Amino acid sequence: MIIFPLQNGKKLAASIAKRSKAKLGELNIEHFPDGELHLRFEDDVRDKIVVLVGSMHPLPSEALLEVVFASKTAKELGAKKVIAAIPYIAYLRQDKRFHPGECVSNRIMAWLVNSCCDKIITVDPHLHRITNLAYLFHIERKKLTANDLIAQYIRKKFKKEKTVIAGPDIESSQWAKEIADSIGFESVIFLKQRFSSRHVKIHVTKEKEWKGKDVVIVDDIISSGHTMIEAVREIKKRKPKSVHCICVHGIFAEGAFEKLKKSGAKSIISTNSIEHKSNAIDLSGLIAKELF
Ligand code: R5P
Repeated sequence: MIIFPLQNGKKLAASIAKRSKAKLGELNIEHFPDGELHLRFEDDVRDKIVVLVGSMHPLPSEALLEVVFASKTAKELGAKKVIAAIPYIAYLRQDKRFHPGECVSNRIMAWLVNSCCDKIITVDPHLHRITNLAYLFHIERKKLTANDLIAQYIRKKFKKEKTVIAGPDIESSQWAKEIADSIGFESVIFLKQRFSSRHVKIHVTKEKEWKGKDVVIVDDIISSGHTMIEAVREIKKRKPKSVHCICVHGIFAEGAFEKLKKSGAKSIISTNSIEHKSNAIDLSGLIAKELF
């Protein structure tokens, strides 16, 4: 088995290789002057199991094409099997034709991955209207969750009696409530109204004594940050001791990290599915375990 980092998976790939004592290969990814993608395997992949590691961010289309080019090339060069370990898969949120004439991106992204990889490994994919990866991927697939790692982080950093774990919307219950239940912490799930990609409203559904509490908001993705920002603002009106944000995939588009800090979040933590200064929860062990 050889682990190859894609453009957005350098640190994670190195860490997976180190943990599993597998070879870390070199995949040279460059662009021609006109912007065309060019890649080259610097290690022999013949008869090997090739693992491509990297999330589809910050340029989702480019990252998707890297997966297609690298896996097709590895196969042509004689690789026995190609596994795409993509902690954050882009295009999953466009899971229906919301407006006439729109593309349903998740199916097209999956069609491309299905056409070139033998297995896909991912972490907490955004599955909403579609609840099963099998609907999209016909290849071997594994959906991992960072819930246990996030739960361990919260248990280490916060006191059970003084902490409330909050989910900003109903969907986040699969992270916030499950994590809270697994470590015996209190949880509360809010309601979200989304008006547009940059305009949401959060409704605190259950009033309680917030004074003196550390509130930890957990969600799968922080993208524009508006979900978290509104949740932080709503909670802060109730004067808790502090508010913290944890996500699996820290996209932090359009300066979301700074905006969220400004809104009053005391800490903002993400897993290393996407490289960012907020990374404090390491997924390499979880992924390595699935590979070996
Ligand atoms: C949506 O359903 C997801 O679980 C997240 O809440 C959402 O993607 C966050 O997006 P944003 O940061 O743009 O509000």
